[in-house]
Amino acid sequence: MQTVKLNNGIEMPQLGFGVFQVTDLEQCKQAVLDAINTGYRLIDTAAAYQNETAVGEAIKESGVDRKDLFITSKLWVSDFTYDRAKKGIETSLKNLGVDYIDMYLLHQPYGDTIGAWKALEEAYKAGKIRAIGVSNFYADQLKNLELTTEIKPVVNQIEVNPWYQQNSEVDFAQREDITVEAWAPFAEGKHDIFTNEAIAQIAQKYGKSNGQVILRWLLQRGIVVIPKSVHVNRIKKNIDVFDFELTADEMKTMANLDKGESQFFDHRDPVTIEQIFGSSLAKLK
Ligand SMILES: NC(=O)c1ccc[n+]([C@@H]2O[C@H](COP(=O)([O-])OP(=O)(O)OC[C@H]3O[C@@H](n4cnc5c(N)ncnc54)[C@H](OP(=O)(O)O)[C@@H]3O)[C@@H](O)[C@H]2O)c1
Repeated sequence: MQTVKLNNGIEMPQLGFGVFQVTDLEQCKQAVLDAINTGYRLIDTAAAYQNETAVGEAIKESGVDRKDLFITSKLWVSDFTYDRAKKGIETSLKNLGVDYIDMYLLHQPYGDTIGAWKALEEAYKAGKIRAIGVSNFYADQLKNLELTTEIKPVVNQIEVNPWYQQNSEVDFAQREDITVEAWAPFAEGKHDIFTNEAIAQIAQKYGKSNGQVILRWLLQRGIVVIPKSVHVNRIKKNIDVFDFELTADEMKTMANLDKGESQFFDHRDPVTIEQIFGSSLAKLK
């Protein structure tokens, strides 16, 4: 598997498997097993997905050496204080049934991110986490965190797909030596992404599918991708993207598809912040 080197020197697979919205734990375990058996080594979960235990069971049952896997999880905003974050990290370790987590992210840029980050830094120094990063941070929030804390995030996991390409955010993070990881690389299928004509024309040339072209385009931008599927045929297709290369013109065609707005929600919209963070406030008091 092709890897990228993170700013703390560790290698991370550039293509992995996401399990957002796979809430049926048996289905989650089976999907992760299928993914690992197919050759995926990076698995992306989160405390908020409520399936860390299923991911942990799949890791064990797979028989693959722990050191050959790269497990990512994320701390939810309801644990964004220093004390709660320390407990949250322990809960993720326990749920996953592992001695260490490869990468642990602050899931959202809200609340006491600095306090929570300090707990991640401590766990990193204690060897419980091999790399620490963030998700859904914008450039200013990333810079603020960098300047306020000791350890720079290795990754910013953000929405990047053909409809929402986030060029300035991607460029900023990459300039700062922070790896960009794309969530919803397929925009969860929105706007007929799997049949879009412009993408299909490129796909046809290589005997590939739209999904494969999208993943290839992201990989060629130096971005880590974590497509999700619970179907083994799609799981296999989504990793079969290392035997062709898009030309500069094809990269331009893909760049022209940008609609310039999130396909889900604007993380800066006060209504979104209220929805994502407001409901956690009671826990934090
Ligand atoms: N940090 C964050 O805030 C955040 C937010 C969202 C997601 N994520 C992470 O990013 C991962 C990926 O994002 P996502 O799950 O939201 O969306 P996604 O990967 O863009 O799309 C997943 C959807 O596409 C379908 N699909 C997958 N491969 C396909 C193929 N080859 N052909 C046709 N359909 C296909 C899947 O259906 P089936 O499953 O039925 O095959 C599923 O409905 C998540 O699982 C999660 O780990 C992180």
